Amino acid sequence: MSERKKLSIPGLFKKVANNEPITWLTCYDYPTAYLQEEAGIDMILVGDSLGMTMLGYESTLPVTMDDMIRHSQAVRRGAPNVFVVGDMPYMSYQPSVESAIRNAGRFMSEAGCDAIKLEGGGEMADRITGIVKAGIPAIGHLGLTPQSVAALGGYRVQGKGAEQAKKIIDAAKALEQAGAFMILLEMVPDRVCKLITERAENCIIMSLGSGPDAHGQLLIYHDMFGLYPRFKPRMAKMFGNAGEVILNGLKQYVDEVGQKSFPQPENWFGIKDDEYEQLLSTLG
Ligand code: KIV
Repeated sequence: MSERKKLSIPGLFKKVANNEPITWLTCYDYPTAYLQEEAGIDMILVGDSLGMTMLGYESTLPVTMDDMIRHSQAVRRGAPNVFVVGDMPYMSYQPSVESAIRNAGRFMSEAGCDAIKLEGGGEMADRITGIVKAGIPAIGHLGLTPQSVAALGGYRVQGKGAEQAKKIIDAAKALEQAGAFMILLEMVPDRVCKLITERAENCIIMSLGSGPDAHGQLLIYHDMFGLYPRFKPRMAKMFGNAGEVILNGLKQYVDEVGQKSFPQPENWFGIKDDEYEQLLSTLG
């Protein structure tokens, strides 16, 4: 396990002040969390995208709080020194401020998260305020918000028109004023993201497919490494094709077992001759 010190919220703001971009990745399991900590990633998002990438659902909507807590706990065990954000799943905060505070609290008390993230604009400002008042750091999420994919009409760029872009800019200010210390902009045009970043006073702006001018970048881990077979979003740069490496290894395993070239003596365990003879004699 790396010995590095976990970034705090003041530490994240210090990076912003020093003009050092923040690195943020999704992660849902222990071994990947371990690798992300080793690699020096600043923040992890245990995203409800795990519903698609890990559980094979068609959308994030079926994901439950219990799913999120189980995966957040595994991530925390793998990356004890990374700032971990728990992503509030569908209907864990929409019904009421009270439900939002209660479920945000579960991420902190049961999974050891450092903050929570929730989707939505000004209409979610009271949830953010309630959560922050309960002592829980909160992150907003604007632009393409996958939990509202039906209302948004699909996974598409948000804020391409001036009117819609202005709404996103106003929503970012509302979330900042409600107490969000960070806002994620997903699939928002680069210049709109830049305007929001320039206008942020006490809030860190992160980009997912929203250009280079935010304070940092988020990517979906499974897209970076070719691990999600259904589709590859345009914004996702592939940093390595782990999916292909694994597939080739699996095919090789099938071949080697079929041809009886696996296993070899180094892959199994033996018994000493005298013990074996004794064993045979007891069998008659
Ligand atoms: O669940 C998730 O991974 C997310 C990202 C799409 C931002 O919310």
